Amino acid sequence: MKSLVVREWGEPRDRLNIEESALPEPGWNEVRVRMVMAPINPSDLLMIRNRYGRQPALPCCPGFEGVGVVEAGKGPLAWRVMGKRVAVIAKDGGSWASHCVIPAIRAIPLAPEVPDEQAASFFVNPVTAWVMIRKLLRPPQGAWIGQTAAAGAVGQMIVRLGKDLGFKTLNIVRREEQGQILKGLGADKVIVGSGDELTEKIQLALGNEKLHAALDAVGGPTGASLIPALKRHGSLMIFGRLSGEPIPLHSGQLMAGMRKVESFWLSEWTQDQSKLTMWSTFRQVAAAMKRGVLQSPVGKVFPFEDFRSAVQEADRAGKDGKVLLRMS
Ligand SMILES: NC(=O)c1ccc[n+]([C@@H]2O[C@H](COP(=O)([O-])OP(=O)(O)OC[C@H]3O[C@@H](n4cnc5c(N)ncnc54)[C@H](OP(=O)(O)O)[C@@H]3O)[C@@H](O)[C@H]2O)c1
Repeated sequence: MKSLVVREWGEPRDRLNIEESALPEPGWNEVRVRMVMAPINPSDLLMIRNRYGRQPALPCCPGFEGVGVVEAGKGPLAWRVMGKRVAVIAKDGGSWASHCVIPAIRAIPLAPEVPDEQAASFFVNPVTAWVMIRKLLRPPQGAWIGQTAAAGAVGQMIVRLGKDLGFKTLNIVRREEQGQILKGLGADKVIVGSGDELTEKIQLALGNEKLHAALDAVGGPTGASLIPALKRHGSLMIFGRLSGEPIPLHSGQLMAGMRKVESFWLSEWTQDQSKLTMWSTFRQVAAAMKRGVLQSPVGKVFPFEDFRSAVQEADRAGKDGKVLLRMS
């Protein structure tokens, strides 16, 4: 098998190399998947740069998800998916390879209507968007959700969820053309800007209304700008740190209305869930993906061997959408 291997942390372009090794044999209730595609997410790049919250031991093969075909397995959970196309949940990494061994319970068969480009990104972003909205923030019909990084993959899913479930979205983006894309998806308000200038723009956009909750993946003053717009007891949920800047918190703004700042990290959340909850969440996400609600914007697809161009494109500000590696 061929894998992309990191032996030293650093810039993804310089630190990744293809290595060959013997095909791994799956253990009991494990499957070996012949990989078809895997996305390059911000978390993969953070991990290779040694800036992720939980770093694996070196050497390692990155990639927390992808899509492929089950070609070997042992045990009843494996037999259930033998020969099927599945979304791969590789929570400890390893999907940037020609083959990947995972617990069979983390191989999720998907409807044929879901194209490989979507199936490859089944886990990291769709489950995050779904859990934050449906299980944690639970906006009522007509309520407002504010968000930064709104034109990214997660951001677009939140907008589509808003249309589907009946909540409204106030979306902060950093480029004009991102606003057009979001309006096309049904975004209620779009604000272009960053930092302190946003506070006034948000207030103008909302008028007398307030946000039920807000989602922030940027950090810094951009993330903080959503706090004064929260309703009483409203929450700012932090789930990313794209700018790398800390969020400046003003105690008075939080205390007025007893607003909250909380965080979400999928890998922490999954640790707290029972197998049954995970299974039912995956079923709900698979159904929403089939309906087109949890859809990733698809960018360039690169052959596996051209991984250097792929990681560079994934890191580029203003890229077209999720960058994917094609293994076969
Ligand atoms: N906590 C969790 O469990 C979890 C799970 C999934 C994702 N995430 C996080 O969610 C975030 C979004 O992921 P994604 O896959 O949706 O990313 P993505 O598709 O790459 O989109 C990122 C978006 O953010 C914008 N952006 C990037 N850096 C920015 C900055 N410094 N200031 C303002 N906007 C910026 C980009 O704009 P341009 O187009 O202009 O570059 C793009 O619209 C990431 O931080 C990721 O790590 C967290």
